Amino acid sequence: MTDKTKAVAVLTSGGDAPGMNAAIRSVVRMATHGGYRVIGFQRGYDGLMADDGIELEPRSVSNILQRGGTILKTARSIEFQADKGCAQAAQVLDAHGVGGLVVIGGDGSFRGAHALGRAWTGAIVGVPATIDNDISGTDETIGFDTALNTALEAIDRLRDTASAHERLFLVEVMGRHSGFIALAVGTAGGAEEILVPEVDTDLDACAARLVAAREKGKTMSIVVCAEGENQSGAFAVARELEQRTGFVPTVTVLGHIQRGGRPSARDRILATKLGAFAVTAIQRGSTDVMVGDVRGELVLSSLEKSAADKKGLDPFLLELIQVLAQ
Ligand code: F6P
Repeated sequence: MTDKTKAVAVLTSGGDAPGMNAAIRSVVRMATHGGYRVIGFQRGYDGLMADDGIELEPRSVSNILQRGGTILKTARSIEFQADKGCAQAAQVLDAHGVGGLVVIGGDGSFRGAHALGRAWTGAIVGVPATIDNDISGTDETIGFDTALNTALEAIDRLRDTASAHERLFLVEVMGRHSGFIALAVGTAGGAEEILVPEVDTDLDACAARLVAAREKGKTMSIVVCAEGENQSGAFAVARELEQRTGFVPTVTVLGHIQRGGRPSARDRILATKLGAFAVTAIQRGSTDVMVGDVRGELVLSSLEKSAADKKGLDPFLLELIQVLAQ
Protein backbone atom coordinates (compact mmCIF):
# COMPACT_ATOMS: atom_id res chain seq x y z
CA MET A 1 0.00 0.00 0.00
CA THR A 2 1.99 2.97 -1.23
CA ASP A 3 -0.90 5.47 -1.14
CA LYS A 4 -0.38 7.47 2.08
CA THR A 5 -3.84 9.00 1.86
CA LYS A 6 -5.18 5.55 2.75
CA ALA A 7 -5.66 4.55 6.38
CA VAL A 8 -4.56 1.44 8.24
CA ALA A 9 -7.32 -0.09 10.40
CA VAL A 10 -6.83 -2.39 13.36
CA LEU A 11 -9.15 -4.54 15.48
CA THR A 12 -8.91 -7.26 18.11
CA SER A 13 -11.22 -10.26 17.85
CA GLY A 14 -12.04 -13.50 19.69
CA GLY A 15 -10.80 -14.26 23.20
CA ASP A 16 -8.57 -11.58 24.68
CA ALA A 17 -4.91 -12.48 25.14
CA PRO A 18 -2.22 -10.69 27.16
CA GLY A 19 -0.09 -8.73 24.70
CA MET A 20 -2.94 -7.62 22.44
CA ASN A 21 -2.40 -4.05 23.66
CA ALA A 22 1.31 -4.27 22.90
CA ALA A 23 0.40 -5.38 19.37
CA ILE A 24 -2.08 -2.49 18.93
CA ARG A 25 0.57 0.00 20.12
CA SER A 26 3.08 -1.39 17.67
CA VAL A 27 0.65 -1.30 14.74
CA VAL A 28 -0.35 2.30 15.51
CA ARG A 29 3.18 3.61 15.94
CA MET A 30 4.61 1.73 12.96
CA ALA A 31 1.77 2.91 10.70
CA THR A 32 1.91 6.55 11.81
CA HIS A 33 5.70 6.43 11.43
CA GLY A 34 5.05 5.31 7.84
CA GLY A 35 2.76 8.30 7.27
CA TYR A 36 -0.64 6.56 7.47
CA ARG A 37 -3.74 7.48 9.45
CA VAL A 38 -4.89 4.74 11.81
CA ILE A 39 -8.43 3.76 12.79
CA GLY A 40 -9.15 1.29 15.58
CA PHE A 41 -12.47 -0.55 15.34
CA GLN A 42 -13.94 -1.54 18.70
CA ARG A 43 -15.35 -4.95 19.73
CA GLY A 44 -13.88 -6.83 16.79
CA TYR A 45 -15.93 -7.47 13.67
CA ASP A 46 -19.12 -6.37 15.46
CA GLY A 47 -17.69 -2.86 15.82
CA LEU A 48 -16.40 -2.91 12.25
CA MET A 49 -19.86 -3.72 10.86
CA ALA A 50 -21.40 -1.08 13.15
CA ASP A 51 -18.82 1.52 12.06
CA ASP A 52 -17.61 1.95 15.62
CA GLY A 53 -14.14 3.27 14.87
CA ILE A 54 -11.81 5.75 16.59
CA GLU A 55 -8.81 7.60 15.19
CA LEU A 56 -5.64 6.39 16.88
CA GLU A 57 -2.41 8.31 17.06
CA PRO A 58 0.85 7.58 18.86
CA ARG A 59 -0.40 9.20 22.10
CA SER A 60 -3.64 7.15 22.03
CA VAL A 61 -1.59 4.04 22.77
CA SER A 62 0.57 5.45 25.56
CA ASN A 63 0.82 3.40 28.74
CA ILE A 64 -0.94 0.29 27.40
CA LEU A 65 2.08 -1.93 26.69
CA GLN A 66 1.95 -3.47 30.18
CA ARG A 67 -1.82 -3.95 30.33
CA GLY A 68 -3.76 -7.18 29.69
CA GLY A 69 -7.09 -7.24 27.84
CA THR A 70 -7.47 -4.96 24.84
CA ILE A 71 -8.20 -1.23 24.73
CA LEU A 72 -10.19 -1.86 21.56
CA LYS A 73 -12.43 -4.44 23.30
CA THR A 74 -13.13 -7.75 21.61
CA ALA A 75 -15.99 -10.04 20.67
CA ARG A 76 -16.74 -13.32 19.00
CA SER A 77 -18.98 -12.15 16.16
CA ILE A 78 -21.55 -14.56 14.81
CA GLU A 79 -23.25 -12.14 12.44
CA PHE A 80 -19.98 -11.40 10.63
CA GLN A 81 -19.68 -15.01 9.40
CA ALA A 82 -22.48 -14.38 6.89
CA ASP A 83 -21.76 -12.80 3.47
CA LYS A 84 -23.93 -9.86 4.45
CA GLY A 85 -21.67 -9.14 7.42
CA CYS A 86 -18.56 -9.09 5.23
CA ALA A 87 -20.23 -6.81 2.65
CA GLN A 88 -21.26 -4.41 5.41
CA ALA A 89 -17.71 -4.38 6.84
CA ALA A 90 -16.23 -3.76 3.38
CA GLN A 91 -18.52 -0.75 2.93
CA VAL A 92 -17.42 0.73 6.27
CA LEU A 93 -13.72 0.24 5.44
CA ASP A 94 -14.12 1.89 2.03
CA ALA A 95 -16.09 4.80 3.52
CA HIS A 96 -13.11 5.53 5.81
CA GLY A 97 -10.55 5.24 3.01
CA VAL A 98 -8.94 2.21 4.65
CA GLY A 99 -6.38 0.43 2.48
CA GLY A 100 -5.11 -2.14 4.96
CA LEU A 101 -6.66 -3.97 7.93
CA VAL A 102 -4.76 -5.67 10.75
CA VAL A 103 -6.77 -8.37 12.56
CA ILE A 104 -5.32 -9.35 15.93
CA GLY A 105 -6.86 -12.64 17.11
CA GLY A 106 -7.01 -16.42 16.85
CA ASP A 107 -8.11 -19.00 14.28
CA GLY A 108 -11.80 -17.99 14.26
CA SER A 109 -10.79 -14.37 13.66
CA PHE A 110 -8.53 -15.46 10.82
CA ARG A 111 -11.35 -17.40 9.17
CA GLY A 112 -13.35 -14.15 9.35
CA ALA A 113 -10.43 -12.18 7.89
CA HIS A 114 -10.10 -14.62 5.00
CA ALA A 115 -13.85 -14.40 4.31
CA LEU A 116 -13.67 -10.59 4.34
CA GLY A 117 -10.97 -10.80 1.65
CA ARG A 118 -13.61 -12.07 -0.78
CA ALA A 119 -15.76 -8.96 -0.23
CA TRP A 120 -13.11 -6.25 0.10
CA THR A 121 -10.14 -5.26 -2.08
CA GLY A 122 -7.86 -3.84 0.63
CA ALA A 123 -4.93 -5.68 2.24
CA ILE A 124 -5.74 -7.93 5.23
CA VAL A 125 -3.03 -9.15 7.58
CA GLY A 126 -3.55 -11.29 10.70
CA VAL A 127 -1.53 -11.08 13.91
CA PRO A 128 -1.82 -14.36 15.89
CA ALA A 129 -2.97 -13.66 19.45
CA THR A 130 -4.57 -16.38 21.56
CA ILE A 131 -3.52 -18.02 24.81
CA ASP A 132 -4.19 -21.40 23.15
CA ASN A 133 -1.10 -21.25 20.87
CA ASP A 134 -3.00 -23.39 18.35
CA ILE A 135 -2.17 -21.47 15.18
CA SER A 136 0.28 -22.88 12.70
CA GLY A 137 2.56 -20.38 10.93
CA THR A 138 4.12 -19.14 14.16
CA ASP A 139 6.05 -20.93 16.90
CA GLU A 140 4.11 -19.07 19.56
CA THR A 141 1.02 -16.90 19.61
CA ILE A 142 0.76 -13.67 21.59
CA GLY A 143 -0.57 -14.40 25.08
CA PHE A 144 0.52 -18.03 25.36
CA ASP A 145 3.63 -17.33 27.45
CA THR A 146 1.74 -15.16 29.94
CA ALA A 147 -1.14 -17.63 30.30
CA LEU A 148 1.34 -20.43 30.79
CA ASN A 149 3.13 -18.56 33.56
CA THR A 150 -0.17 -17.65 35.24
CA ALA A 151 -1.19 -21.31 35.25
CA LEU A 152 2.25 -22.35 36.44
CA GLU A 153 2.12 -20.04 39.41
CA ALA A 154 -1.23 -21.56 40.39
CA ILE A 155 0.10 -25.12 40.04
CA ASP A 156 3.17 -24.33 42.15
CA ARG A 157 0.80 -23.14 44.90
CA LEU A 158 -1.42 -26.20 44.58
CA ARG A 159 1.67 -28.42 44.79
CA ASP A 160 2.39 -27.02 48.28
CA THR A 161 -1.07 -28.04 49.45
CA ALA A 162 -1.03 -31.35 47.59
CA SER A 163 2.27 -32.15 49.28
CA ALA A 164 1.17 -30.98 52.75
CA HIS A 165 -2.04 -33.04 52.61
CA GLU A 166 -0.64 -35.91 50.52
CA ARG A 167 -3.43 -35.58 48.00
CA LEU A 168 -4.18 -35.99 44.32
CA PHE A 169 -4.96 -32.68 42.63
CA LEU A 170 -6.62 -32.41 39.24
CA VAL A 171 -6.09 -29.02 37.60
CA GLU A 172 -8.07 -27.96 34.54
CA VAL A 173 -6.38 -25.41 32.30
CA MET A 174 -7.81 -23.61 29.25
CA GLY A 175 -7.73 -25.02 25.76
CA ARG A 176 -11.06 -26.10 24.32
CA HIS A 177 -9.49 -27.70 21.27
CA SER A 178 -5.83 -27.75 22.12
CA GLY A 179 -3.46 -28.98 24.79
CA PHE A 180 -0.60 -26.50 24.40
CA ILE A 181 -1.14 -24.86 27.79
CA ALA A 182 -1.71 -28.22 29.48
CA LEU A 183 1.41 -29.82 28.04
CA ALA A 184 3.64 -26.83 28.74
CA VAL A 185 2.38 -26.13 32.25
CA GLY A 186 2.29 -29.82 33.11
CA THR A 187 5.92 -30.14 32.08
CA ALA A 188 7.05 -26.99 33.86
CA GLY A 189 4.97 -27.83 36.94
CA GLY A 190 6.08 -31.47 37.21
CA ALA A 191 2.64 -33.03 36.70
CA GLU A 192 2.35 -36.81 36.93
CA GLU A 193 -0.22 -36.98 34.14
CA ILE A 194 -1.23 -34.56 31.38
CA LEU A 195 -4.52 -35.06 29.58
CA VAL A 196 -4.91 -33.28 26.24
CA PRO A 197 -7.54 -33.38 23.47
CA GLU A 198 -4.92 -34.33 20.87
CA VAL A 199 -4.26 -37.71 22.52
CA ASP A 200 -6.89 -40.36 23.35
CA THR A 201 -6.73 -40.69 27.12
CA ASP A 202 -6.55 -44.17 28.56
CA LEU A 203 -7.93 -43.49 32.04
CA ASP A 204 -7.32 -47.10 33.16
CA ALA A 205 -3.62 -46.78 32.37
CA CYS A 206 -3.49 -43.31 33.90
CA ALA A 207 -5.10 -44.58 37.12
CA ALA A 208 -2.78 -47.60 37.24
CA ARG A 209 0.26 -45.32 36.99
CA LEU A 210 -1.04 -43.08 39.79
CA VAL A 211 -1.60 -46.09 42.06
CA ALA A 212 1.81 -47.55 41.20
CA ALA A 213 3.48 -44.22 41.99
CA ARG A 214 1.85 -44.21 45.45
CA GLU A 215 3.08 -47.73 46.05
CA LYS A 216 6.58 -46.60 45.16
CA GLY A 217 6.45 -43.87 47.82
CA LYS A 218 4.95 -40.84 46.04
CA THR A 219 2.66 -39.14 48.51
CA MET A 220 1.05 -36.61 46.19
CA SER A 221 0.20 -36.26 42.50
CA ILE A 222 -0.85 -33.55 40.11
CA VAL A 223 -2.89 -34.31 37.01
CA VAL A 224 -3.23 -31.47 34.50
CA CYS A 225 -6.23 -31.70 32.23
CA ALA A 226 -6.95 -29.45 29.24
CA GLU A 227 -10.46 -28.00 29.16
CA GLY A 228 -11.20 -29.78 25.87
CA GLU A 229 -9.87 -33.18 26.89
CA ASN A 230 -13.20 -34.48 28.07
CA GLN A 231 -16.57 -33.14 26.97
CA SER A 232 -17.96 -33.56 30.46
CA GLY A 233 -15.24 -31.52 32.17
CA ALA A 234 -12.67 -31.96 34.93
CA PHE A 235 -15.18 -33.09 37.57
CA ALA A 236 -16.23 -36.04 35.40
CA VAL A 237 -12.57 -37.00 34.88
CA ALA A 238 -12.05 -36.75 38.65
CA ARG A 239 -14.97 -39.11 39.31
CA GLU A 240 -13.58 -41.63 36.84
CA LEU A 241 -10.14 -41.46 38.44
CA GLU A 242 -11.61 -41.83 41.91
CA GLN A 243 -13.47 -44.98 40.89
CA ARG A 244 -10.29 -46.49 39.48
CA THR A 245 -7.78 -45.41 42.15
CA GLY A 246 -9.71 -44.92 45.36
CA PHE A 247 -8.04 -41.51 45.76
CA VAL A 248 -10.39 -38.53 45.97
CA PRO A 249 -9.03 -35.88 43.59
CA THR A 250 -9.28 -32.22 44.56
CA VAL A 251 -10.39 -30.36 41.43
CA THR A 252 -9.28 -26.83 40.58
CA VAL A 253 -10.53 -25.18 37.38
CA LEU A 254 -8.23 -22.25 36.55
CA GLY A 255 -10.57 -20.83 33.90
CA HIS A 256 -10.46 -17.21 32.78
CA ILE A 257 -7.80 -16.29 35.33
CA GLN A 258 -5.42 -17.43 32.57
CA ARG A 259 -6.68 -14.89 30.03
CA GLY A 260 -5.98 -11.59 31.80
CA GLY A 261 -3.05 -10.01 33.53
CA ARG A 262 0.05 -8.08 32.59
CA PRO A 263 1.79 -9.64 29.64
CA SER A 264 5.19 -11.25 30.12
CA ALA A 265 8.27 -9.62 28.59
CA ARG A 266 8.29 -12.40 25.98
CA ASP A 267 4.70 -11.68 24.92
CA ARG A 268 5.31 -7.93 24.79
CA ILE A 269 8.34 -8.42 22.55
CA LEU A 270 6.56 -10.92 20.29
CA ALA A 271 3.51 -8.61 20.03
CA THR A 272 5.71 -5.62 19.25
CA LYS A 273 7.55 -7.46 16.49
CA LEU A 274 4.45 -9.02 14.93
CA GLY A 275 2.39 -5.80 15.09
CA ALA A 276 5.10 -3.80 13.31
CA PHE A 277 5.70 -6.56 10.78
CA ALA A 278 1.99 -6.65 9.95
CA VAL A 279 2.20 -2.99 8.91
CA THR A 280 5.33 -3.69 6.87
CA ALA A 281 3.45 -6.53 5.13
CA ILE A 282 0.60 -4.16 4.25
CA GLN A 283 3.07 -1.58 2.95
CA ARG A 284 4.67 -4.23 0.75
CA GLY A 285 1.27 -5.16 -0.72
CA SER A 286 0.77 -8.55 0.98
CA THR A 287 -2.78 -9.63 1.73
CA ASP A 288 -4.73 -12.65 3.02
CA VAL A 289 -1.71 -13.56 5.15
CA MET A 290 -0.77 -13.77 8.79
CA VAL A 291 2.53 -12.78 10.34
CA GLY A 292 4.49 -15.23 12.45
CA ASP A 293 7.78 -15.78 14.20
CA VAL A 294 9.28 -19.09 13.17
CA ARG A 295 12.65 -19.98 14.69
CA GLY A 296 13.38 -16.31 15.23
CA GLU A 297 12.46 -15.21 11.71
CA LEU A 298 9.46 -13.06 10.85
CA VAL A 299 7.44 -14.84 8.18
CA LEU A 300 4.13 -14.62 6.32
CA SER A 301 1.78 -17.53 5.70
CA SER A 302 -1.64 -17.95 4.13
CA LEU A 303 -4.51 -16.97 6.44
CA GLU A 304 -6.72 -19.75 5.16
CA LYS A 305 -4.04 -22.38 5.64
CA SER A 306 -3.05 -21.24 9.11
CA ALA A 307 -6.67 -21.27 10.27
CA ALA A 308 -7.21 -24.75 8.83
CA ASP A 309 -3.92 -26.49 9.73
CA LYS A 310 -3.78 -28.16 13.10
CA LYS A 311 -0.55 -27.29 14.91
CA GLY A 312 0.88 -30.37 16.61
CA LEU A 313 2.02 -30.74 20.20
CA ASP A 314 5.69 -31.48 20.84
CA PRO A 315 5.85 -35.33 20.60
CA PHE A 316 9.12 -35.44 22.55
CA LEU A 317 7.55 -33.67 25.52
CA LEU A 318 4.45 -35.88 25.35
CA GLU A 319 6.59 -39.00 25.68
CA LEU A 320 8.86 -37.53 28.31
CA ILE A 321 6.10 -36.83 30.84
CA GLN A 322 5.74 -40.41 32.01
CA VAL A 323 9.50 -40.88 32.23
CA LEU A 324 9.88 -37.80 34.42
CA ALA A 325 6.86 -38.64 36.59
CA GLN A 326 8.47 -41.81 37.99
O1 F6P B 1 -9.47 -19.30 22.73
C1 F6P B 1 -9.06 -18.94 23.99
C2 F6P B 1 -9.93 -19.56 25.05
O2 F6P B 1 -9.53 -19.05 26.29
C3 F6P B 1 -9.98 -21.08 25.10
O3 F6P B 1 -8.88 -21.66 25.74
C4 F6P B 1 -11.27 -21.31 25.81
O4 F6P B 1 -11.77 -22.57 25.54
C5 F6P B 1 -12.15 -20.23 25.25
O5 F6P B 1 -11.29 -19.19 24.85
C6 F6P B 1 -13.19 -19.70 26.20
O6 F6P B 1 -13.92 -18.74 25.53
P1 F6P B 1 -14.98 -17.76 26.20
O7 F6P B 1 -14.20 -16.76 26.99
O8 F6P B 1 -15.68 -17.16 25.06
O9 F6P B 1 -15.80 -18.63 27.07
